[in-house]
Amino acid sequence: MSAITLTINGESKTITAPPMKRLLDVLREDLHLTGTKEGCGEGECGSCSVLMNGELVNSCLVPVLQAAGANVCTIEGVAVEGRLDAVQQCFLEEGGAQCGICTPGMILATHHLLDKYPQPTMAQIQEGLAGNLCRCTGYKRIFNAVESCAKKSHA
Ligand code: FES
Ligand code: FES
Repeated sequence: MSAITLTINGESKTITAPPMKRLLDVLREDLHLTGTKEGCGEGECGSCSVLMNGELVNSCLVPVLQAAGANVCTIEGVAVEGRLDAVQQCFLEEGGAQCGICTPGMILATHHLLDKYPQPTMAQIQEGLAGNLCRCTGYKRIFNAVESCAKKSHA
């Protein structure tokens, strides 16, 4: 077991865990942040996506030791004072979420994409979300939500 300190959604947290425990499990089990979902557990589906030092990572592939000292943002850190943020609001309005398993990862991937390309082309949207799989929506509504959010933030 190791004591590992990291910043989660702006707050410093120290947990005691095996160093190779997956960041995904530390978030869900040790920190009770269950918004981060497990799909494949193999780095293929993106449902466990979080931002680590501003980069989009699959938390199922990150040993917690690797996150020591890092700044991690999960879906719980996205809402502003308990209200949906702009990206979440656009997903809601455009019907970009159905069962919701992929949605936290999609929202974080969208933040990552819009930080990089505030006015993305549809090709950039598709590329930016290519690592996040959705079994429900057929993607069109998700892509529409991202496009709508980009437009609104520059309206
Ligand atoms: S659960 Fe991590 S990529 Fe699928
Ligand atoms: S909304 Fe169900 S997997 Fe995407």
